[in-house]
Amino acid sequence: MRLAMIGTGYVGLVSGACFSEFGHDVVCVDKNETIVARLDKGEIPIYEPGLDKLVERNVEAGRLRFTTDLKDAVANADAVFIAVGTPSRRGDGHADLSYVYAAAEEIARAAPATCVIVNKSTVPVGTGREVEDIARKAAPDKKISVASNPEFLREGSAIEDFMRPDRVVVGVSDAHAEEVLRGIYRPLSLREVPLLVAERETAELIKYAANAFLAVKISYINEMADLCEKVGADVQVVAKGIGLDNRIGPKFLHAGPGYGGSCFPKDTLALLRTAEEAGAPVRIVQATVDVNNDRKLAMADRVIAACGGSVKGKRIAALGLAFKPNTDDMRDSPSLDILPRLIEAGASVAAYDPAAMQLAAPMLPDVEMVGSAYEAIEGASAVVLITEWNEFRALDLRRLKDSMETPVFVDLRNVYPSEDMRQAGFEYSSIGRS
Ligand code: UDX
Repeated sequence: MRLAMIGTGYVGLVSGACFSEFGHDVVCVDKNETIVARLDKGEIPIYEPGLDKLVERNVEAGRLRFTTDLKDAVANADAVFIAVGTPSRRGDGHADLSYVYAAAEEIARAAPATCVIVNKSTVPVGTGREVEDIARKAAPDKKISVASNPEFLREGSAIEDFMRPDRVVVGVSDAHAEEVLRGIYRPLSLREVPLLVAERETAELIKYAANAFLAVKISYINEMADLCEKVGADVQVVAKGIGLDNRIGPKFLHAGPGYGGSCFPKDTLALLRTAEEAGAPVRIVQATVDVNNDRKLAMADRVIAACGGSVKGKRIAALGLAFKPNTDDMRDSPSLDILPRLIEAGASVAAYDPAAMQLAAPMLPDVEMVGSAYEAIEGASAVVLITEWNEFRALDLRRLKDSMETPVFVDLRNVYPSEDMRQAGFEYSSIGRS
């Protein structure tokens, strides 16, 4: 099939490359000439393991190309995916849909007589209908269907998630759109991946309901972690104990410094606004958001408490800045709340992250970025492990201890066994464990 992908951000680029890997003929469109020029040279503007090889292979095979020319890309397409950004609008938490609407209009004008426009961007319930109105107005003589096909990719494992998803969700309002989308995802049916076909509004809501549910799970286990600390229980064992119940499941029960990233914070807020406007407030999601916001700040207080109540004049080493490992994404990362608060309390902070320092530097102007974990730790009064990168899982503990001013280790990801750390001579604190 001939597909056009509008937007070469995270979702667009990964989806476009993966669709070409399925064997489809894919053109990825971006207005930004620099990005397209870089992609043409094989440079991948985002950090995602395996994406460079995937792009290279499919470009060489002639199934994937990049352009700034939307008209040309769309002219012969069976389906056009909208994968442009939907940032939170300043002030009201609503998703900003101006890029989606602008793309819809342009696509409709350039589309062939029959075409399916597919929303892949995360959009509020009802956006499909609006996109349809826009498309019909822009091209009244064409037979344009509008479908929804939310993505559930995780950064850092996006390709695997795309190639082996738990399910594919499509929302359609006519038989042609359903047939085209079934055709696009046929390679996955060979792997017996369930394809859920729903009404458009339902598909749109599934995306938000899924992300908010996962966020609920995280805030829930984080509150359990706080309780564990008070009553002398171990949150990792609690998570295991409840996760063995199939109705709960073991995933997304890792207690930590609070969720961040490009999806959960934004999508929970957007869902809250949608629910409020619809007169069906989702109080559990509101509580989840509140717990998470408070939690990120409370993490700085833990470091201060671990340092005996004050960090004034002390050097703190931060290991990890990205919101999770295997990405350079800093969006809503807990480090953005924790580190400024430590600095405000009088600490100086030296940080190391294997991938995110370039993006982090302007966001954390008062943090000294250094070249390795050991450099960060040199002379530090405490180390705070914020992101569980693999390279922080096997630190040379003796070297660490010897180069620190005081051996205080605050592990916000429960990477190390408490007993081992104490035996190694650290004043070790972690999340939800004694
Ligand atoms: C998420 C969803 O998983 C994905 O389906 C959706 O399409 C986009 O949002 P992503 O943001 O890339 O993906 O990362 P994810 O691995 O889900 O982690 C999100 C945040 O939750 C991170 O800050 C992570 O540290 C945190 N988290 C996750 C926990 O604190 N505990 C957990 O058990 C799992």
